[in-house]
Amino acid sequence: MAINIRCANTNDLLNIQHCNLQCLPENYQMKYYLYHALSWPQLSYVAEDEKGRIVGYVLAKMEEDCEDNPHGHITSLAVKRSHRRLGIAQKLMNQASRAMVECFEANYVSLHVRRSNRAALNLYTSSLQFEVSEIEPKYYADGEDAYAMKRDLSSFHLEKHIAKENMIKEANAAHTHIPRCCEH
Ligand SMILES: CC(C)(COP(=O)(O)OP(=O)(O)OC[C@H]1O[C@@H](n2cnc3c(N)ncnc32)[C@H](O)[C@@H]1OP(=O)(O)O)[C@@H](O)C(=O)NCCC(=O)NCCS
Repeated sequence: MAINIRCANTNDLLNIQHCNLQCLPENYQMKYYLYHALSWPQLSYVAEDEKGRIVGYVLAKMEEDCEDNPHGHITSLAVKRSHRRLGIAQKLMNQASRAMVECFEANYVSLHVRRSNRAALNLYTSSLQFEVSEIEPKYYADGEDAYAMKRDLSSFHLEKHIAKENMIKEANAAHTHIPRCCEH
């Protein structure tokens, strides 16, 4: 199954909303999707099948008013039933987290998850190194508690640093000397 992960754009929002309605009880008005897409166009991603149909998404943003400790937040994540257990959610989450670091120097990413959501909890703790930071009683509209979770993004900072070093090395190696170009 060929799945393509790419940055979401405003043309995707109706399909993202449709996927959200199919997969989760937490739904949002279109203006909330639009707010994400217009404010942080780098951070939300979709997974599409070989026919370009959206089979999963991650909707992400930066938390505002914390410039001294920038961090991102996952507003919503879902993968259609037909495409689960293929590593799609893991890839979507990693792409969004990487973009938070590359574009906004985020130090960590946070999210909320239902205490009963075994699949998501397993994904966050086993595959994505999230840790529970707090329990928020009755966070959801139906009274269920949420785990507030955080993932440290240091590994993406390191990845960014190494990529930059490699670029500099490659640029230096590709430099061809012409007479007097490197004289001081
Ligand atoms: C949670 C959800 C996004 C996972 O999507 P996915 O693409 O199937 O997840 P992945 O294939 O990337 O799974 C990666 C790992 O997460 C864990 N995981 C995923 N689904 C699981 C399940 N049903 N049961 C137990 N562990 C699960 C496993 O460790 C898995 O690795 P493995 O397949 O090698 O064992 C998907 O089940 C979903 O859309 N659920 C409904 C919406 C939802 O709950 N969203 C999260 C709200 S906070």
